[in-house]
Amino acid sequence: MPFITHEAVKTIGIVGAGTIGSSWAAWFLARGLKVRLTDPSPATPELVRTYLEGAWPALRQLGVAHETLEQAASRLSFHASAAEAATGADFVQESAPERAAIKQALLKEIDAVLPPDRVIASSTSGFGATEMQAEMREPQRLVVGHPFNPPHLIPLVEVVGGGRTSEAAVQWAIAFYNHVGKRAIHVRKEVPGHIANRLQAALWREALHLVQEGVGSVDDVDAAIAYGPGLRWAVMGPHLTFHLAGGKGGMAHFFDHLGPNVEKWWADLGTPLITPELRDLIVGGVDEEIGDRSYEELVEQRDQTLLRVLAATAKRE
Ligand SMILES: NC(=O)c1ccc[n+]([C@@H]2O[C@H](COP(=O)([O-])OP(=O)(O)OC[C@H]3O[C@@H](n4cnc5c(N)ncnc54)[C@H](O)[C@@H]3O)[C@@H](O)[C@H]2O)c1
Repeated sequence: MPFITHEAVKTIGIVGAGTIGSSWAAWFLARGLKVRLTDPSPATPELVRTYLEGAWPALRQLGVAHETLEQAASRLSFHASAAEAATGADFVQESAPERAAIKQALLKEIDAVLPPDRVIASSTSGFGATEMQAEMREPQRLVVGHPFNPPHLIPLVEVVGGGRTSEAAVQWAIAFYNHVGKRAIHVRKEVPGHIANRLQAALWREALHLVQEGVGSVDDVDAAIAYGPGLRWAVMGPHLTFHLAGGKGGMAHFFDHLGPNVEKWWADLGTPLITPELRDLIVGGVDEEIGDRSYEELVEQRDQTLLRVLAATAKRE
């Protein structure tokens, strides 16, 4: 049976309304969709409302949201269970706590009420769909749809199928996320951390190693990214960046010219252990880097700059 068309998706079920679920709700509401939410915490309606009030100005500023929050929030409803939130939904984004047993039980509940032509995505950072779909009646429609915090601002969604997920469901999810304005990629194998978190982990490993070895302070290592390659990485990824670094000869020339040197650097990279000493060293370095700036000031600085970067990179393709 073919999946529902992307254009026919009008209602999103969201299961779990914490950091990620609330942010997904903001995005889907901004895109004009109805959102059916469930979360057992009694504080949920108030917390979600506060989250939406914080997120809405940015969504307006980016030109994603075209209505007032009042208008958009009229499409938001709260429900007592996952089954109820999923009833009548055209797509479900599960964003419950990162516990296998909780997710398996919720996915089974959603699966039982959602027609088989609707896809279910899990926001999980750490589990594979294979593990989570074990008890599903229609396991072929479960994908991992892994966002980056906050999903209402960061475009990337990593889509990963499990052993019993159909290729059609994976392709449907990728096209759907793109249809609603995200930038989805296909992670072709289930590996811990998917793609983007592995890349972050690889960089952070060497950042810790460089501080540990006294090569640079925490502040200088951060500056080496934020004022250097980090700026280019917001425009294009490491491969295209190096293609350009190869001059007219491009990627092929870069390999021939600099490849052997890079291999020598790889051999010298570190694999630090997170010992109490390393922890103290980095925590102290971060305190020095922050100086007298408050947490709130830093968040504000990050978010305001991020909004300008997002606006500048929105139409790059
Ligand atoms: N926080 C991140 O940076 C991030 C990024 C990408 C993906 N994720 C993934 O998103 C998912 C949610 O993470 P989070 O950071 O939003 O966690 P969170 O703790 O902020 O939110 C989880 C929410 O789920 C609710 N919940 C608990 N039991 C539930 C149930 N039975 N049914 C429905 N809701 C229930 C909790 O009340 C809470 O509001 C996790 O799978 C996580 O791996 C998190």
